[in-house]
Amino acid sequence: MSRRPAPRSPPVPQQPPPITVVGIGADGWPGLAGTARAALRAADAVLGGPRQLALLPVGEVTAERVPWPSPLRPAVPGLLDRYADRRLAVLASGDPMFHGIGRTLAETAGPERLRVLPHPSSVAYACARLGWPLESTDVVTLVGRPLDTLRLALNPGRRLLVLSADAGTPAAVAALLTGSGHGSARLRVLEQLGGAGERQLDGPADGWPHPPGDPLNLVAVELGTDGPRTQVVPGLPDGAYESDGQLTKRHVRAATLAALAPVPGELLWDVGGGSGSIAVEWLRAHRDNRAVTVERDPARAARITRNAAALGVPRLHVVTGAAPDALAGLPAPDAVFVGGGLTAPGLLDACWAALAPGGRLVANTVTLESEALLTTWYRRHGGELLRLAVAHAVPVGGFTGWRQAMPVTQWSAVKPAVSPTPEENAP
Ligand SMILES: C[S@@+](CC[C@H](N)C(=O)[O-])C[C@H]1O[C@@H](n2cnc3c(N)ncnc32)[C@H](O)[C@@H]1O
Repeated sequence: MSRRPAPRSPPVPQQPPPITVVGIGADGWPGLAGTARAALRAADAVLGGPRQLALLPVGEVTAERVPWPSPLRPAVPGLLDRYADRRLAVLASGDPMFHGIGRTLAETAGPERLRVLPHPSSVAYACARLGWPLESTDVVTLVGRPLDTLRLALNPGRRLLVLSADAGTPAAVAALLTGSGHGSARLRVLEQLGGAGERQLDGPADGWPHPPGDPLNLVAVELGTDGPRTQVVPGLPDGAYESDGQLTKRHVRAATLAALAPVPGELLWDVGGGSGSIAVEWLRAHRDNRAVTVERDPARAARITRNAAALGVPRLHVVTGAAPDALAGLPAPDAVFVGGGLTAPGLLDACWAALAPGGRLVANTVTLESEALLTTWYRRHGGELLRLAVAHAVPVGGFTGWRQAMPVTQWSAVKPAVSPTPEENAP
């Protein structure tokens, strides 16, 4: 009787060992919890910034110490590969998942491979020192972001915590506040929070009296009640924009943003940017929103960049060029607004083609030629065709009468999951 070979069990996939991410504060080793110390003692290799690695006592942590190279992000996948079969610990400052290396590690290695041991973040320390509830404090980071980012958070009576880029940030924040009508704000710089060298400096924004101090700092701002307001919903006054007249006016703009219906994280193409107002207000709707504006006139494109900075959204990507050619190679949008260039051959087709199912297209025009085109598209694809006619009351002699602005025709549509058949396509 022949014996059958025993059935082989399928190979068990080898799980790479977890990566322990240890949050460490300015108080170094003495400030770490027992679990964090144990993870560092047990590690074969510890990755971290040179300043953080120097906080680990040689007698306690015998692992190989690997300083992060600069620039950091592109080096992360290679380093994780190199230490894939070793017990790896990574040092992060404060809470690794708050503006920290934890994000890059989660995106590279997958969150399931991480074991994150958080330390209080700098903002947790700041709120503890100031007695401010964190949930009613706006937090703005200027690490790797332009100073103009701060403008969106400026409102009378608000409290802000600003994560500094370096020792020069407190004076730069004071100058921006003063220049934007918030000179009465009180600033407090919190240096080396939680460490032996902890120090606080305070003063008014207008006439900030301190020279640059420690690069590890955070700026707490209490805005006065007398400064200008930063409106949070679309429909900013027309005067908020620098413009040569190529501007979607306030009431039509508010209706246009409502039709574009942004939700957090989405990407807008603003085609024929003019003064950039649609993209600017799209970006102001949420900090994760993204936008590209395409404008063929270089002077207008430069003006759009200035408007975006002045209105707190310097992340707007401005492309100088004529659509549809200038749209080639742009990342696929969630929504498209066409405010100019509608009659350029192939423009509307290119915008519609770039949208994924569920994407929105909104086009505005004041000319009969473009209106005819929009009517064709409305008959083909449905959606909503509107006429927005705004009139303002103005003095007429001793009386008051309506001054009618040019009516705007707006077509908006959501791209369906399945394209219509050619017969349905016929206008
Ligand atoms: C009425 S304005 C748009 C206003 C804009 N929504 C705003 O609020 O500032 C139209 C703009 O489209 C630009 N434009 C026209 N045809 C274009 C094309 N083919 N590609 C890119 N921009 C174009 C014009 O230079 C003009 O600045």
